[in-house]
Amino acid sequence: MITLADIEAARRRIEGIAMHTPLLEDPSGSGLRLKAEHLQVTGSFKIRGAANAVSLAAEAGARHVVTDSSGNHGQAVAWVARHLGLKATVVLPENAVARKVEAVRSCGAAIVLSGMTTPERYARANEIAQREGAVYIPPFNHPHVMAGQGTLGLEILEQAGEVGTVYVPVGGGGLIAGTATALKAAGRPVRLVGAEPELAADTYLSFQRGELVAIDYPTGTLADGLRSTQPGALTFAVIRERVDEIMLVTEEEIRQAVRYLAVNVKQVVEPSGAVSLAAALRVPRGAVAVLSGGNADLGLIASLLR
Ligand SMILES: Cc1ncc(COP(=O)(O)O)c(C=O)c1O
Repeated sequence: MITLADIEAARRRIEGIAMHTPLLEDPSGSGLRLKAEHLQVTGSFKIRGAANAVSLAAEAGARHVVTDSSGNHGQAVAWVARHLGLKATVVLPENAVARKVEAVRSCGAAIVLSGMTTPERYARANEIAQREGAVYIPPFNHPHVMAGQGTLGLEILEQAGEVGTVYVPVGGGGLIAGTATALKAAGRPVRLVGAEPELAADTYLSFQRGELVAIDYPTGTLADGLRSTQPGALTFAVIRERVDEIMLVTEEEIRQAVRYLAVNVKQVVEPSGAVSLAAALRVPRGAVAVLSGGNADLGLIASLLR
């Protein structure tokens, strides 16, 4: 179980790499506030966990890091590795969003396209790490990654004052596990709700049944960053203890949320990053929705706005 102390240590470690992102007010008067991680370095919250985990690996002597990712974590690891002078290799799915592949490439990392599912990518990344004597940096299921993501929770506490409910998108669960730990440790009466596409309901089902549930690879959802087939064992242990509810949203609600952000808030957010808003729009007053990323292909955004 990660602790508040782990998150505070992560915050000191990532200072100067990750930004403090703004908490935006919804100007349309809904009462919603939006934690703008799509404006973060590399365009997603993933830089927080990557900066913490890669810095610790570098301190322990790593020269080369390997990771597997749907795109945003890979970009973040590649960015931090270049910043610290390490080599990076990123395993991405064969159907990765083109803009995410390009972003990883532009950070100077070696790219390996392999399979579609998280377990396929995990196996490939670990094989490369072993063969090349590199250090594997997991996308969510690791205490250093969760603690880095938890720094987002500390910022919400400082920026938001009174908060009713915080909504967080859920893939493998690293972001919500870290955020929940920071928020619950503060002892304020805040509700922590995870939001998942109903087409990728692995954490919802696991939460309902009280045990890890694996689903088939969820091709159907627009939220490419949330297509994990099972929560991590470590992330799920934290989620069970510290998260209040996991909500499911439809694909139409995700599309509406991306449109809402463009039209009302003038922000471009990727579908995975808007899943929290899709849930929050059901009861917006007093809520904070974490907009976790903004790396979408512009053709997709254009088609959603048309
Ligand atoms: C934009 C975005 N939001 C949320 C997530 C989910 O994060 P986690 O796997 O930590 O639950 C991801 C994962 O890639 C993502 O890219």
